[in-house]
Amino acid sequence: MMKKIKDILNFRKQQTVPVCDINPPSAYGSNIITIKDLTKQFMGIRAIDDLSVNIPQAMTIGLIGSNGSGKTTLVNILTGMLRPDAGEITVRDKKRSHIKANELRKYRIARTFQDGRLIEQISVVDNLLLSVAENDLVDSLKEVSIKDYQDRLEKVLEMTSLTEHRHKNAEELSYGLRKLLEIGRVLMQDADIYFFDEPFSGLFPEIVEQVCEIICGLQKQGKTIVIIEHNMGLIRRLCNYTIVLNHGKLLAEGNPEEVLQSKAVRESYLGV
Ligand SMILES: Nc1ncnc2c1ncn2[C@@H]1O[C@H](COP(=O)(O)OP(=O)(O)OP(=O)(O)O)[C@@H](O)[C@H]1O
Ligand SMILES: [Mg+2]
Repeated sequence: MMKKIKDILNFRKQQTVPVCDINPPSAYGSNIITIKDLTKQFMGIRAIDDLSVNIPQAMTIGLIGSNGSGKTTLVNILTGMLRPDAGEITVRDKKRSHIKANELRKYRIARTFQDGRLIEQISVVDNLLLSVAENDLVDSLKEVSIKDYQDRLEKVLEMTSLTEHRHKNAEELSYGLRKLLEIGRVLMQDADIYFFDEPFSGLFPEIVEQVCEIICGLQKQGKTIVIIEHNMGLIRRLCNYTIVLNHGKLLAEGNPEEVLQSKAVRESYLGV
């Protein structure tokens, strides 16, 4: 009996070993996105309030803050879903007042959605291929691209454990597989900057591990990754930079350990 309990405890220990070998760098390099004096109001609510913050290149950034602090709104602005009322956004040295949704491929930006964007009555494969066509219809029709997309499709199906479900419609998938399909749609786009809006929410531990592995794979390729997440264990484990929002303003930024220990963050977000 004692041995069995020991085995379980050992197994648990193994499970908590970080999958990513990621350390905070001593100095941050260049910024891939610079945000200056950004504001977005919704009928009197300042969802983003005169925000200036940078997204460092090739880092994994945890974008955190309490419910309603403006995280999704910020990502919506940076991915062309919303137009800000004021401010400047510089992506790779190109200054803009806003980003257009049809420019995302040009900027090599891809994202998932907090509320999902699957098309229920088409297959897993079609959902994946459509994410490429949506982003670049012309390129997706070229013969050379089609071969490339087919290769990528097989890789993405494997990474997301969706190979055996490839012909099922999205509506037939379990919640976990649906979340993996959302991530697969983003992986199909082969971007440089990835935004994941709560990719772990509601997932069983095994699928959390799988999503961590996918994110680690992107890190190893030097991608810039922004993860919105409420689980601080996952933020510590995956991220080497943290941005904390509070009422649409920047509350803190920097090394996750330091940021999460700071008095301001503990009081206003973690409530401890
Ligand atoms: N389309 C909209 N119309 C009106 N108000 C909105 C809209 N989108 C966001 N808001 C408001 O803006 C504020 C910021 O919302 P946002 O969704 O960006 O927060 P969040 O940090 O992503 O929160 P959560 O952790 O709950 O996802 C909230 O007060 C929200 O109610
Ligand atoms: Mg949100």
